Amino acid sequence: MRIVLLGPPGAGKGTQAKMIARDLGISVLSTGDIIRLAIKNQTPWGKKAEKFVESGGLVPDEVVIGIVKEKIDQDDLWSGFILDGFPRTIKQAEALEAMLGERNLSLDAVLYFAVDKEEVIKRLSSRRVCENCQATYNLLSNPPLQEGICDRCGGKLVQRDDDKPEVIRQRLETYEKETKPLIDFYQKRNLLYVIPSNGPIEEVYNKVKEVLEEVTAR
Ligand code: AP5
Ligand code: MG
Repeated sequence: MRIVLLGPPGAGKGTQAKMIARDLGISVLSTGDIIRLAIKNQTPWGKKAEKFVESGGLVPDEVVIGIVKEKIDQDDLWSGFILDGFPRTIKQAEALEAMLGERNLSLDAVLYFAVDKEEVIKRLSSRRVCENCQATYNLLSNPPLQEGICDRCGGKLVQRDDDKPEVIRQRLETYEKETKPLIDFYQKRNLLYVIPSNGPIEEVYNKVKEVLEEVTAR
C-alpha cells in the first residue's frame, strides 16, 4: 500500500505513521526526520537546509524531491510506503505523481489529519523527542514513564528547535500557504480521506484503521 499522510504541523502524522507501520509492516519515509538527521550530521545539503527549518519555511522542492526519490529507490519501497511530511507543495505532489507514473504505479490513499490550530499549538509546545532514537512523547498526552528520559532507549528527551513559539507560528503560516492546497489536489483525484484528529491518539488511530480497511476493500 502507498499512503501519504497530510496535515498541519503537530497533527500527529509521525505518531500515526509509526502505528500504521507497526501494524501493516510498511516502511515510513519521513522527510522531516531525514532532514533533521542531515542537519545533525552537518552534511553539505544538511547545512543548507538548516536555515529553512529553523525559520519555519520549507527546504527547496528540488532538494526534497531528490531525497525522496533516492530513498525510495535505495530501500526499494516502490511497492509500499507511508510518506510522512511529503509532498508539501503542489510541485512535490506533481513530482511524486510523475515518479509513480513512470513505474505504472499510483497512490492508494492520502490521509488528511484535520485538527484545530489551538490543539496543534498545545501539542507542539508540549512535545519532547529522544535525541538518541527520535521516539516522540508529549508532556500532556503521552508522557514518558520517567521525566526527561526515553522509555525505549534511556536517551535524553529534548524539545525540537522548531517547536519554539515563533517558529511554530511561521510553520503554521507556511502550511496554510504551501501545503493546504494539496487537500484540493488530492480530493480531485479521489484519494483524500479526512481523519478528524482533535481526539486522543488511539481514537484517531481507530479512524485510520477504518479508512485503511475501506481502502483495502476498494
Ligand atoms: P516535519 O518534521 O515534517 O514537521 P511538521 O510537518 O511540522 O510536523 P511535526 O513533525 O511537527 O508534527 P506531526 O504531525 O508529525 O505530529 P507528531 O506525531 O509529532 O518537518 C520539519 C521541517 O522540515 C519543516 O518545517 C520543513 O522546514 C522541513 N521539511 C520536511 N519535509 C519537507 C518537505 N516535504 N518539503 C520541504 N521542507 C520539508 O505529534 C505532535 C505531538 O503531539 C507529539 O508530542 C505527540 O506525542 C502528540 N500527539 C500526537 N497525536 C496526538 C493526539 N491525537 N492527541 C494528543 N497528542 C497527540
Ligand atoms: Mg512529524
